[in-house]
Amino acid sequence: MSRIYNFSAGPSMLPTAVLEQARDELCEWHDTGMSVMEMSHRSKSYVGIAEQAEANLRALLAIPSNYKVLFLQGGATGQFAAIPMNLLRGKSSTCYVNTGIWSKKAISEAKRFSSVTLSASAEADNFTTIPARSGWAVDPEAAYLHYTSNETIGGVEFQDIPDAGGLPLVVDMSSNILSRPLDISRFGLIYAGAQKNMGPAGITVVIVRDDLIGEVLPGTPSIFDYQQQADNGSMLNTPPTYPWYLLGLVLAWLRGQGGLVAIEAINRRKSTKLYQAIDDSPFYSNPVDMACRSRMNVPFKIANTDLEKTFIAEAMSAGLANLEGHRSVGGFRASIYNAMPESGVDALIAFMAEFERKYG
Ligand SMILES: Cc1ncc(COP(=O)(O)O)c(C=O)c1O
Repeated sequence: MSRIYNFSAGPSMLPTAVLEQARDELCEWHDTGMSVMEMSHRSKSYVGIAEQAEANLRALLAIPSNYKVLFLQGGATGQFAAIPMNLLRGKSSTCYVNTGIWSKKAISEAKRFSSVTLSASAEADNFTTIPARSGWAVDPEAAYLHYTSNETIGGVEFQDIPDAGGLPLVVDMSSNILSRPLDISRFGLIYAGAQKNMGPAGITVVIVRDDLIGEVLPGTPSIFDYQQQADNGSMLNTPPTYPWYLLGLVLAWLRGQGGLVAIEAINRRKSTKLYQAIDDSPFYSNPVDMACRSRMNVPFKIANTDLEKTFIAEAMSAGLANLEGHRSVGGFRASIYNAMPESGVDALIAFMAEFERKYG
């Protein structure tokens, strides 16, 4: 087996130990004579797998008991719509902070259901920074305030939880959940697709304070109704059983690494050394305000764009895959989620130095 370093933004690397465990359990899970994929979601074995995943998530994030944890389908994109459907609760307006392409997508979906106040926007700065909290406009009548804690494409990350001005705080944490400890009690709702830091594509986690649910917009499909999902253990219909199982393995692996304090220290080390390598070089550059640089997605450019194809090809030959920047911004992007080993970042830094020596 030869595994390369995969810098994809998502779906992205999974811990090798998790894949090996899944391989070992593929055909038969724990003397059941069947694969997890073949189990009824109502079976005792599978319900145990699902409950263990939730228990591990609750332990990792210290989720208080007044928060529901839901395992849903439809991706974070589905939540862009489900959130206003569930959280408007008789109100008609919402507040959104625009820090990049994912914020914009959340906003355009929210506009289908509510009148959106743009509390702040970094668009004029080409999404290279986060507007200072002091300048945000928060409508006290809004149902909630939404932000994107890590912009996967722009490489911009909130380093602190913003003050929600008295509104329930809602966050899209798709690309940095579980990368550092979190005070869940500051939030009304946290959501994240699994395929970056938690598992394979196909499952989406929603953590929601229980007093915020139970009053959906008339016409909301049952499948998007958080209360109905909570009442049915996220099994209102057949859930994505295998992604849920894999997510559980990733959570167990994370606990084995020492939990979020330990993983944060590694993430800090990996990102600091990669940004240092970029900043120390006249050949590479990163456009993001230093105070808002993402620990998860590191975009970078070279001045001579004619060399980009050569960089990607030579990186691939060196076992470093998927370093292309998002098609909307170009350049390069290294996604270094929890499962990217530090040795992968070291290999990338060494490759970048060698590439600069050859072509710089
Ligand atoms: C921050 C963020 N939000 C939302 C999404 C959309 O997720 P999904 O494809 O699961 O709907 C992504 C996907 O890359 C993302 O990075």
